[in-house]
Amino acid sequence: MKIPDIIIAIDGCSSTGKSTFAKLAASRFAFLYLDSGAMYRGVTLAGMEKGIVRDGQIDLPALQALLDGGLDLHFRHEDGKTLLYLGDRLIESEIRTLAVSGNVSPVSAVPFVRRFVDDKLHAFSKGGRVIMDGRDIGTTVFPNAELKIFMTAAPEIRAQRRYDELVAKGDHPTFDEVMKNLQERDYIDSHRETSPLTQPADAFVLDNSHMSLDEELVWLQGLIQGRFQILQ
Ligand code: DC
Repeated sequence: MKIPDIIIAIDGCSSTGKSTFAKLAASRFAFLYLDSGAMYRGVTLAGMEKGIVRDGQIDLPALQALLDGGLDLHFRHEDGKTLLYLGDRLIESEIRTLAVSGNVSPVSAVPFVRRFVDDKLHAFSKGGRVIMDGRDIGTTVFPNAELKIFMTAAPEIRAQRRYDELVAKGDHPTFDEVMKNLQERDYIDSHRETSPLTQPADAFVLDNSHMSLDEELVWLQGLIQGRFQILQ
């Protein structure tokens, strides 16, 4: 399938499987994949390590100084994967702990944090075919993206997915903790003042509550073919 250089913006609530879907789609259709949530998690981790972010409380002047000082968060492409580094340190695993998840929503609601991340996303996505997932990609970061997808799934299915992911990584959360974190993040992400999570009017909705990844990819392929009149 010959796909033009386009940006695909995928938005949706936590644990709707956006990253898994976007990563797989990127490798299937040869796109560069960028995970914007990873960037917010990276800022949160850096803030937590410096004691600037703790228990959902943020020392805003200190966080601003950390970002203004040129916090070195960047993606590197290795073996077909896009991985997040803080300086020379690979932080893909650390940014996905429940501790970081518990602090990331308030951090991502801070306007100067959003500007910092948006600038990085624009810089990393210059040229080529890009697929990016997050909460405000189709509404704020790339409002002119050629294809917008809004992913959704039932809350208990999303919580089960996140729970399984954490347990597989050696974390020991209870299902209720994971559900609570998910509901809190849904609330903060969709009620914050700057770039709240909303469904772009021109997005195609993908409810994957009862879909396999293969079925999602078939859905995407059909969408791309139809949208860009690609015959094969
Ligand atoms: O997709 P995720 O769970 O890794 O995202 C982590 C947090 O970052 C999430 O709680 C909301 C925030 N986020 C955001 O505000 N805007 C984005 N474009 C991506 C993520």
